[in-house]
Amino acid sequence: MSSPQDYREPLDAARLTEELPSFNGPWTAIEIVPQTGSTNTDLLEWAARGLPEGVVLVAEEQTAGRGRMGRSWVSPPGAALTFSVLLRPEALPPARRPWLPLVAGIGTVTSIRMLTGLEAELKWPNDVLIGGRKVAGILAEAAGNAIVVGIGVNVSTTLEELTPGPGGLPPTSLLAEGVPVHRDLLLIEILRSLGQWYKTMAAEPDPQRIGLLAQYHKLSATVGRGVRVELPGGQSISGLATGIDADGQLLVEADGGMYQIAAGDVIHVRLAATGGRTVLYGDFGRRAVAPCPHEQGSDAGAG
Ligand code: BTN
Repeated sequence: MSSPQDYREPLDAARLTEELPSFNGPWTAIEIVPQTGSTNTDLLEWAARGLPEGVVLVAEEQTAGRGRMGRSWVSPPGAALTFSVLLRPEALPPARRPWLPLVAGIGTVTSIRMLTGLEAELKWPNDVLIGGRKVAGILAEAAGNAIVVGIGVNVSTTLEELTPGPGGLPPTSLLAEGVPVHRDLLLIEILRSLGQWYKTMAAEPDPQRIGLLAQYHKLSATVGRGVRVELPGGQSISGLATGIDADGQLLVEADGGMYQIAAGDVIHVRLAATGGRTVLYGDFGRRAVAPCPHEQGSDAGAG
């Protein structure tokens, strides 16, 4: 049985930098710091000062890690892969920018699957789950035309160290699932996937044409499920998640109508079929959908 410490070796800066040319863009530099408050906060500041896109900032430890909806992201030093990337998606129409955190989610899921064989999947918009437990979260924030996408993956966090966050999802880690990996490898794979999708979207922003919609649907644990969506304004909608639209919004069929959800917390609920009708366990009610303009379609509760 391997020990958590085996997977908490400091990240290998020289090796990661050597890998840079193999990505063929957009990544220009990988900076690793032993400790910072939040890699997202740092990159937002750097973006405001005009830093060009492509910088990746990784922290061995965050002392003020942030999650969606004002939540915190907490992890012991070296136990999680915590990093942010700075993008300036000038070639992407604004309506398609909410895809960036979704693409980061796709990259995280496919990398975990490839390196561990675990059945990671996406809870809309970009929580990464294994067996219904949250292993990774993503926070995207804008600073002018720049977008900072931050990713946190629980790698060697032990069961004792994992605490459920206010979002209510039970947490897990790759170690807790029995397949820890070295964080360098995971970082390389996530950057490779995110970078490829980013370049593809910049060349052709239609998510259907480039197979992005199909890939998201394939990895989604939400589409086809009964959901209750808690909206940023405190309202909620219960219904059937039928798909994702071209702008990355979740489509929810509820009370005879179709809702497009731009941001919110999704809770998966169980469906039951009765006499040819689909019934959801949970409360119902037709409410207005309030989009959340300050977030880039990110939003996955930390926990
Ligand atoms: C969530 O699940 O609510 C999102 C969590 C995002 C955590 C990552 S860790 C790296 C980056 N820096 C932060 O402060 N947050 C993100």
